[in-house]
Amino acid sequence: MDWYRRVFPLVRCLPAEPAHTLGHWMLRAPVAWGGSRPRDPFVWRGLEFPNRVGIAAGFDKNAQVLAGIARMGVGFVEVGTIVTEPWSGNPAPRMRRLEGQRAIWNRLGFPSEGVETVAARLAAFRRDDRSGMLLASNVAPHPRTVKAGGPGFVAQARDELLRLGRTLHAASDLFVVNLSSPNTQGLRDLLYGPGFRDELVLPLRKLLRELDRETGHSRATPLLVKLPPEDASGTPWTEETLAPQVEPFCQAEACDGFVAVNTSIGLARAQVPGAGADLPGGLSGAPLRPLAESALRLLATLRCEGQLLIGVGGIDQPEDALRLHEAGADLVEVYSGMIYGGPGFPARCARALAGAA
Ligand SMILES: Cc1cc2nc3c(=O)[nH]c(=O)nc-3n(C[C@H](O)[C@H](O)[C@H](O)COP(=O)(O)O)c2cc1C
Repeated sequence: MDWYRRVFPLVRCLPAEPAHTLGHWMLRAPVAWGGSRPRDPFVWRGLEFPNRVGIAAGFDKNAQVLAGIARMGVGFVEVGTIVTEPWSGNPAPRMRRLEGQRAIWNRLGFPSEGVETVAARLAAFRRDDRSGMLLASNVAPHPRTVKAGGPGFVAQARDELLRLGRTLHAASDLFVVNLSSPNTQGLRDLLYGPGFRDELVLPLRKLLRELDRETGHSRATPLLVKLPPEDASGTPWTEETLAPQVEPFCQAEACDGFVAVNTSIGLARAQVPGAGADLPGGLSGAPLRPLAESALRLLATLRCEGQLLIGVGGIDQPEDALRLHEAGADLVEVYSGMIYGGPGFPARCARALAGAA
């Protein structure tokens, strides 16, 4: 979009966070950013996605610009990460554009207005929306709980996930549990640890099923797990390292699919000078695409029948959306590519996928 190419040099005069705020402000203007919504319906277990492209978690953490996102012409959005209580996130420096690499580095650490505020905004959007855009709630335990650790903290993390599930159920089409963010010390340890499925994911999925029954939902609310692009050491997944992570979820039908991938700690360490050893943050954008693609190829064979696969990471051109789709993603999400490509970028990706169908 030519006008965005003209505006972007101005945007890049601003540091990344104020530029993000400006982007949100722009999205409030009543403009159909992506032209008419690309029609490429994808139906999965009764959920109808208007097309196969969504906005990844982290762009609208507090459900502030859902109407603007709907005007971008996407099929769905992952809101969040949402945590129970308001939280300011990590101290600065915590976000930077790496323009030469078409990448973004961040270690925001879940700044959030808290679940009550977000749930109210989701419900208000739902009441008025005519776009058909689906809403996914991306949830995680509170950083305060994870950082404190100690005896009983896993039980507390579980109770928080249950509170998030209860509060957000009515306004969410699906849920994503996110323990793959590298920006809260100890969070990924929960993901890689042995109790992840039984102590955190299964109880949340059971609760969602109960709520579905109580509220007479015509279909089950799905729960997906968001995965990192790498193992605990920051090394990209191989079949040997990813299979033990994924297989337990097939055995007990413990989740309904996967979102792959979150930002990369390994790439941040290698490519971001001064990122810091303790909390190096995560890299997203173009350099992440090969990792996302290979994780998806592995997941496409490791997932069990019927599980949904959402591909995210490094979609920088519409052809990249096709690449992730070919690697096995049923749906794809964008974030960094939209920062560099503008608010018309997601719809361009959706058109590319629709054309390939
Ligand atoms: C500034 C920023 C904040 C993010 N915040 C979250 C978050 O809160 N929760 C989450 O699951 N992923 C978060 N992500 C990760 C994205 O959802 C996505 O997985 C990642 O950026 C890779 O996609 P991309 O290369 O298209 O940006 C964030 C990414 C960025 C750049």
